[in-house]
Amino acid sequence: MNIKILNEIAVQMVADSKGILAMDESNGTIKKRFDALKIESNEDNRRIYRDMLVTTDSLSNYISGAILFDETINQKTISGDTFPAFLENTGIIPGIKVDTGAKPFSCHKNEKITEGLDNLPERMEKYKTLGAKFAKWRAVITPGDNIPTKACMIANAHALARYASICQEVDIVPIVEPEILMNGSHDINKCFEITNEAQSITFEALDKLDVNFSGIILKPNMVISGTDCEKQASAEEIAELTIKCLANNVPNEVPGIAFLSGGQSDEDASNNLSHINQINTNPWKTTFSYGRALQLEAMKKWNGNNNNIALGRSILNKRAKLNSLAAAGKYNLEMENS
Ligand code: 13P
Repeated sequence: MNIKILNEIAVQMVADSKGILAMDESNGTIKKRFDALKIESNEDNRRIYRDMLVTTDSLSNYISGAILFDETINQKTISGDTFPAFLENTGIIPGIKVDTGAKPFSCHKNEKITEGLDNLPERMEKYKTLGAKFAKWRAVITPGDNIPTKACMIANAHALARYASICQEVDIVPIVEPEILMNGSHDINKCFEITNEAQSITFEALDKLDVNFSGIILKPNMVISGTDCEKQASAEEIAELTIKCLANNVPNEVPGIAFLSGGQSDEDASNNLSHINQINTNPWKTTFSYGRALQLEAMKKWNGNNNNIALGRSILNKRAKLNSLAAAGKYNLEMENS
């Protein structure tokens, strides 16, 4: 493990108000997104779609890194380069999703544990050879009646810590993602309580396994109201509670926090991030690592028709630019129409 290399990569991932493009949907997840638009999910369509994303004009002005799925890291862009080589050439750091998904958690109804530790050291070596400089592992915590349990948070935190340690051994920066789902009728205070506990347990687990905090990126949910909650919190409240939660738990050495969008609308994801950055005075950067909030509109406009590739690229360019402004605290909703 080389702490200097790890820290340099992590710092670069959150520098200059840039963020991360999460384009690492598993084949199951991308099929769901394509199905909703009646796009056939086959290997070639997935490659063409992701080629469209990475060939977007000026992407590296706003995007520091891109998370790939196993299939994509092994594919080539139209230019003939592998995806990681193409990204490197355009100034974007290639990363890889390495968990194998959230599975039912034994003896805990309606809860999930993320798997993928088997053979992870060998897989990590392979991904390093293919060009990955960082990795991602997503733990899923579900709010509901009598859940999440502490057992679920502890088991997921332990897996995140094992994964992070395996990454750091080979100088790959782990993105540590404990996601509290936003589905449900819980209010923002409940989200704060769960997020705070999950982050606390996660950092304790990372510390116990000697993970070096200067060589990780945290990828949390924002603290927000559940989607079915009658009272939806304002961007100001979201920013305040999100920063309070992070300040309670994130060590100063962590270079940055890159939020997931989690199902928020494009506008909310940008607006909330901008408000967070307007009040963040902590040592760590706060930026984005969005999947849906960067891609969905571009995917819709492409719609599986390659005549629409230029349009798809222009939509991604816009969302990447607006989120980069939000990472500097300089986004406002009027910019959507300009
Ligand atoms: P969303 O921004 O769509 O939540 O995806 C981010 C991600 O990488 C989830 O693991």
